[in-house]
Amino acid sequence: MTNGAIDRMTNGPTQPSEPYRRLLVTGGAGFIGSCYVRDVLARRDGTEITVLDKLTYAGNEANLAPVRDDPEQAARLRFVKGDIADREVVADLVGDVDAVLNFAAESHVDRSILDPEAFLVTGVIGVHVLLEACRTAAHRPRFLQVSTDEVYGSVPEGQSREDDLLAPRSPYAAAKTSGELLVRSYVVTHGVDAVVTRGSNTYGPYHHPEKLIPLFVTNAIDDKPLPLYGDGLQRRDWLYVSDHAAGIDHVLRHGRSGETYNVAGGVEMANRDTVTLLLKHLGKPWSLVRHVEDRPGHDRRYAMDGSKLAALGWRAETSFEDGLARTIDWFVANEPWWRAARSGDWDAYYERQYGQRLRTAT
Ligand code: NAD
Ligand code: DAU
Repeated sequence: MTNGAIDRMTNGPTQPSEPYRRLLVTGGAGFIGSCYVRDVLARRDGTEITVLDKLTYAGNEANLAPVRDDPEQAARLRFVKGDIADREVVADLVGDVDAVLNFAAESHVDRSILDPEAFLVTGVIGVHVLLEACRTAAHRPRFLQVSTDEVYGSVPEGQSREDDLLAPRSPYAAAKTSGELLVRSYVVTHGVDAVVTRGSNTYGPYHHPEKLIPLFVTNAIDDKPLPLYGDGLQRRDWLYVSDHAAGIDHVLRHGRSGETYNVAGGVEMANRDTVTLLLKHLGKPWSLVRHVEDRPGHDRRYAMDGSKLAALGWRAETSFEDGLARTIDWFVANEPWWRAARSGDWDAYYERQYGQRLRTAT
């Protein structure tokens, strides 16, 4: 196994010519944003990062603990608790940086079906506030919008390419698509320097336990039922989290302004097969699985063509077997982290999302 994406991030001292030395990372206490912050601070001396994060139920400062534990890295990290939709806070922070990377979003499709409003406020208003701040900042920082393969909608066959039709099918995906369209409008109308990444289904350490892989791992550890939607034959393209962070970093440094890049995992799996591998690694039985009522509007398949980013010199390289094993081992070793994430409102959410489904499961 290689150490994959982290090693392939540009290493060593920041060069005087480095155009992106001071970064604003929004959503940097979440799953993928915190991986980006940890990996960049560990690998690239001299880079300074300000994290702006609202600390919703999904944000957790403990995700940045490895940085805090290293005094040299900690000195290059500043954490600001705040909302990307807050104009004053954003304008103040954008004034000081070379680039803004927007990871902040409500990220869970199921919650967007239950309560869509926060998805729109953060995904549309929040993105607009960030773009306005970039437009009006004297030094015109680069803006990178972290988006998703869900903007293409369900893909029955073949692979989505960057210029394909956008056909979002959930409130989450619609909000992400709207954010992208705003970015495009600011490039065309105002000449903002911006790029967009579309990542595929990401997994790894620090993944919030509401999502498929960490939910099933943590439930299986506790011998609780695993609620598999519908027939479980939906297909997803899996991308290890540090690969995703490195792909985003590559687009920041090498992407052409105004362009969009797929960050594809290249690992297409049916959910049933993912669950089979996961249970095998944990030594738990398939009898934990319950086929429950499907997600409304459930996208059957995602698959992206990664050749545009490959032409810039980057592609994902962590195999699913290695990435899944590392992920599961991390959850087994970090029980206090995921038990804390499953506290507070978790039981109420779980009952609302799964209670009736599990009571009527087959
Ligand atoms: P996450 O839910 O783990 O983290 C989101 C972070 O954003 C949290 O720390 C949260 O507190 C913060 N946040 C939410 N609203 C905010 C606001 N208004 N102001 C400031 N901070 C706010 O999400 P993630 O899985 O790490 O996803 C990060 C980004 O990547 C999102 O934009 C998501 O759409 C995109 N993405 C995710 C995946 C995936 O599989 N997880 C794949 C492709 C793209
Ligand atoms: O494709 C990129 C997207 O991947 C990101 O943009 C989203 O932010 C991220 O949450 C993820 O969306 P998905 O909906 O694909 O991920 P989730 O983990 O929720 O579900 C993965 C698959 O597993 C999907 O087909 C639904 C299914 N599933 C999920 C859950 C939570 C189940 O069968 N049971 C479950 O309990």
